[in-house]
Amino acid sequence: MSSTQAFRNEHAALLEHVEHLRVAAAQIPEMTPDERGQTTQRILAFLKGTLVPHAEAEERVLYPAVADVLGNAEATATMISDHRAIVARIDALAATDAGDVARLQELLYGIYALLIVHFHKEEDDYLPLLERRPPAEVAAIFERMGGHDHVH
Ligand SMILES: [Fe+2]
Ligand SMILES: [Fe+2]
Repeated sequence: MSSTQAFRNEHAALLEHVEHLRVAAAQIPEMTPDERGQTTQRILAFLKGTLVPHAEAEERVLYPAVADVLGNAEATATMISDHRAIVARIDALAATDAGDVARLQELLYGIYALLIVHFHKEEDDYLPLLERRPPAEVAAIFERMGGHDHVH
């Protein structure tokens, strides 16, 4: 098992919820306004309560560790920029009227696409960099992120 498996497990657990955005986006036109409101609130609760704190923990702990391996503090700026783009759309989703079907769909599909690409970059490009560090150090980084290892 690789030293970054706990990070990958956490992402896998998040992705189960992320998948709901794509499903909800497709179903939005058939929903009543009440259902649309409830679905949007449920998704916002996940995004603001779980996903954004995950991103904040990365900026605090994971990204500096990756930047350290790369030898440049600015190396992770593009990924922080992804986080900003995602948060801006979460805020836009929160501000969207439940009757605005087209806008809800646009934002849900948009956030979904950004998240999928962003997660892949972390898993395929950042975690292999982290794996160059001693496993005990990687475990300590995960712990400092406040991570909980999900067993699947
Ligand atoms: Fe991230
Ligand atoms: Fe992440």
